[in-house]
Amino acid sequence: MVKEDRIQRAATILRESRDVVVLTGAGISAESGVPTFRGADGLWKNYSAQELATPEAFQRDPQLVWEWYDWRRSRIARARPNPGHLALTQLEKATHRFTLVTQNVDGLHDLAGNREILEVHGNIWKLRCTECGLERVDRTVPLDPLPPLCECRAMMRPGVVWFGESLPEDTIALAFQRANQCDAVLVAGTSAVVYPAAGVALAAIQAGIPVIEVNLEETELSAIVEISIRGRAGEVLPFLINDREL
Ligand code: OAD
Repeated sequence: MVKEDRIQRAATILRESRDVVVLTGAGISAESGVPTFRGADGLWKNYSAQELATPEAFQRDPQLVWEWYDWRRSRIARARPNPGHLALTQLEKATHRFTLVTQNVDGLHDLAGNREILEVHGNIWKLRCTECGLERVDRTVPLDPLPPLCECRAMMRPGVVWFGESLPEDTIALAFQRANQCDAVLVAGTSAVVYPAAGVALAAIQAGIPVIEVNLEETELSAIVEISIRGRAGEVLPFLINDREL
């Protein structure tokens, strides 16, 4: 099938679905200027995300890990939702039941106006105390002091999930439940290599639910989904969702 036909088919599936689950990753925010994790823009001072987003890295050098998060926070603070995010707000409005499962911690789906959001990897604006567990939302950029301190004077950590850590149990369970019951799943801008989040798409495939993928590049899902579309989320999603003539 040529690309235009695949887009039309995907648009029809979405239009005819009453219950839609969307799974997003860093690629959907790339056009807003937020670096992805595994792309060339993901490197910071020659460190990769995999080296810094771990409890071990934080234990070894909290200052370094916090400087990276402070850098990411400053990029995200300047970022605005792009047409890909906005198309998903339209999809939510047009769908009877809608769930947006995001691996992103940037909060851009919320800023765009989506409401049913499951943030399975946390949120970069949240801080959590390493001692007493107190959480607070802090949008200050840059943070001062760095690392930030809790009221109890202990160090705070970013309120995100790191490699090797468990995802918020209820949130990920709900994501799987919705993916098993919906009429269609749209996966956009994720390399789909980090589990269990990527498993949300696999669960739907196993349940025989049509899965549509939009990604700049081929991923491990591309060969097994019903429809895989190569392109930028900010360009393809508005077409998919408005069902405009190509
Ligand atoms: P990745 O950086 O692994 O993948 C980004 C994906 O987006 C790639 O497959 C790109 O091809 C694609 N992409 C880039 N620009 C795009 C665009 N404009 N339109 C469409 N696709 C585009 O990011 P994630 O899949 O989100 O977890 O990574 C998953 C998790 O690994 C993250 O949540 C984070 C990370 O380490 C934790 O920190 C726990």
